[in-house]
Amino acid sequence: MKTTILCFSGSGNSYWVASQLATQLGDATVLMIPSLMEADSIELGQRVGIVYPAYKFFPPNLATFFVETVLSEQNLDGVASLFQVCTYNRACSWALSAMERTLTQAGLAVSYTGRVKMANTYVPLFKTPSDERIDRYYTEAAKQIAQMARDIEEGAIKLAPRAPFARLATRRLMKPIHRSLMDGAAAFAVTDACNACGLCQRICPSGNIEIRGGKPLWDRVCSGCLACYHRCPEQAIIFKSRIRGDHYPNERSGYHVEYRP
Ligand SMILES: Cc1cc2nc3c(=O)[nH]c(=O)nc-3n(C[C@H](O)[C@H](O)[C@H](O)COP(=O)(O)O)c2cc1C
Repeated sequence: MKTTILCFSGSGNSYWVASQLATQLGDATVLMIPSLMEADSIELGQRVGIVYPAYKFFPPNLATFFVETVLSEQNLDGVASLFQVCTYNRACSWALSAMERTLTQAGLAVSYTGRVKMANTYVPLFKTPSDERIDRYYTEAAKQIAQMARDIEEGAIKLAPRAPFARLATRRLMKPIHRSLMDGAAAFAVTDACNACGLCQRICPSGNIEIRGGKPLWDRVCSGCLACYHRCPEQAIIFKSRIRGDHYPNERSGYHVEYRP
């Protein structure tokens, strides 16, 4: 069965999970959501998957917006099954419930739900794990992904877990509160180490960065993914507030997608 995996990723964890799933399922293509925002028509397989991270308990705003405004407008007649996978580090039940709800409203019924624990990229609160710990995340994740691929192939049914207060969270909190929380993520600045290579502008999934006067400038449509911070080759991007973690360039994810020239 032909599979299309729609993916959003910041530092590359979700991209790696999507790529591994594609390899395991065979005849599968990974399409990056930020590249599809302007798409009139997307070639979808009979099986569709969506892979994304949990950011502040919910899916990234851009992934939700994509489902609401782009995916919902596609011809979905040929889609026989749909799975969703969330990458997370601490908790993602609300994210899974919220995505299930958004997909249902777009006319798509989720038949399989998975979650994969990966390194935490949220450096304002969590320390970046050691290389050994990151190895363990990858090793464990590979096992889980192999099992998920088997489940999906066998047509297993698995819905999002019943998260506490899910109804309140997904109906009342998701849009207004989450969007304003994520706006706060736009508090970046650059040090003199910035050589204006423009990578941050090219990789930003939300198109939120402009290079002006030789320096990046952040607008306020940030998805909060921290791709710019983690993947800056000069580590020149800093938060305006204190942070606990270090950089997580995540080379082994193989995520080198650039969204604009
Ligand atoms: C802004 C931000 C918020 C996050 N919030 C959560 C969260 O609520 N729950 C959780 O388990 N992990 C959280 N994380 C960790 C990510 O979900 C996890 O590292 C994920 O694998 C990152 O995937 P990516 O590299 O594809 O962006 C957060 C990370 C970021 C950057």
